[in-house]
Amino acid sequence: MGAASSSQPVSPRASLRDRLPVFPWDRLEPYKATAAAHADGIVDLSVGTPVDPVPAVVQQALTAAADSPGYPTVWGTAALRDALTGWAADRLGARGLDHTHVLPVVGSKELVAWLPTQLGLGPGDKVGYPRLAYPTYEVGARLAGAEPVVYDDPWDLDPSGLKLLWLNSPSNPTGRVLGADELRRTVAWAREHGVLVFSDECYLELGWEADPVSVLHPDICGGSPDGLVAVHSLSKRSNLAGYRSAFLVGDPTVLGDLLQIRKHGGMMIAAPVQAATVAALGDTAHVAEQRERYARRRAALRGAFEAAGFRIEHSEASLYLWATRDEPCWDTVAALAEHGILVAPGEFYGTAGERFVRIAFTATDERVDAAVRRLSK
Ligand SMILES: Cc1ncc(COP(=O)(O)O)c(C=O)c1O
Repeated sequence: MGAASSSQPVSPRASLRDRLPVFPWDRLEPYKATAAAHADGIVDLSVGTPVDPVPAVVQQALTAAADSPGYPTVWGTAALRDALTGWAADRLGARGLDHTHVLPVVGSKELVAWLPTQLGLGPGDKVGYPRLAYPTYEVGARLAGAEPVVYDDPWDLDPSGLKLLWLNSPSNPTGRVLGADELRRTVAWAREHGVLVFSDECYLELGWEADPVSVLHPDICGGSPDGLVAVHSLSKRSNLAGYRSAFLVGDPTVLGDLLQIRKHGGMMIAAPVQAATVAALGDTAHVAEQRERYARRRAALRGAFEAAGFRIEHSEASLYLWATRDEPCWDTVAALAEHGILVAPGEFYGTAGERFVRIAFTATDERVDAAVRRLSK
């Protein structure tokens, strides 16, 4: 036994890592270097990371809570839970919420990545998500050892073994918004087959040519959160990606289980960030101001890319334009990098995106203007 273990060392960390794809952004590095060499500097439209200031009202709440020596709780302060239920009632139209219907999380990415594991899924279980999607849905399935399955329409999936179904509206990367009829049909189908639905709605407040609706709106869920959880994040709405604050709203049985598991795992939001979240959710002025900035940048980039021969599909909401020149995405990435403009290849989001690029409008006005000038030459 000693000889066997010394010749074949067991490396659980390596085997977990081996379940995961190559971290996609590493593949963009050479193009980033090309774009960065542009005489007037790079215009980075690749990652959807906010660049505008954290709203003053939020910064003040954070600093006012700076003296927080004790451990925060996983469920958050009562003030935070009030803010979450209040926001979900006002903004999503969800009814009948109390504190058992909400759960703070440390940014939504960790939740997406570890949810299947925290739900106890594993080999033999399936996790469904859109054919073109944020890559972390697949990562979450793989970390748990469950089988990732993609769909065009969720109700066409084979429900056997399907334990978790991800919806994402507005979509990253396409900006597509699911209509009320599609959402209703999906909810009915999932309930009929006992499939838990997690609806990632982190771009809900960023609709441009569509008004995104939550899965928790009574018109969709019939007034009951049974089998449904909506995922929301402060990152995009309030420029708080650096704070790591997101939350879940929905089925209290599911959230109660996750609360217990996450307590054991110490998955808690820092106390000053909890206070900042309360302030952010209580203020709509900064959301309107930020939306106006993005609307201007979106219009400028859309016009410039279309004039430069791109076709934009979907993109009615979110922080992205989903664009194609009907060529392989890496050719588009390379050509734009020569102009100092960095975009994300559509292939990062699934093979169906291999002839598209994703253009984020999370760059300053000055950088957006620079991109527009370069594209018009
Ligand atoms: C669809 C989607 N879900 C979740 C996230 C994660 O956001 P965060 O972890 O900042 O809440 C992102 C980030 O880009 C996203 O696009």
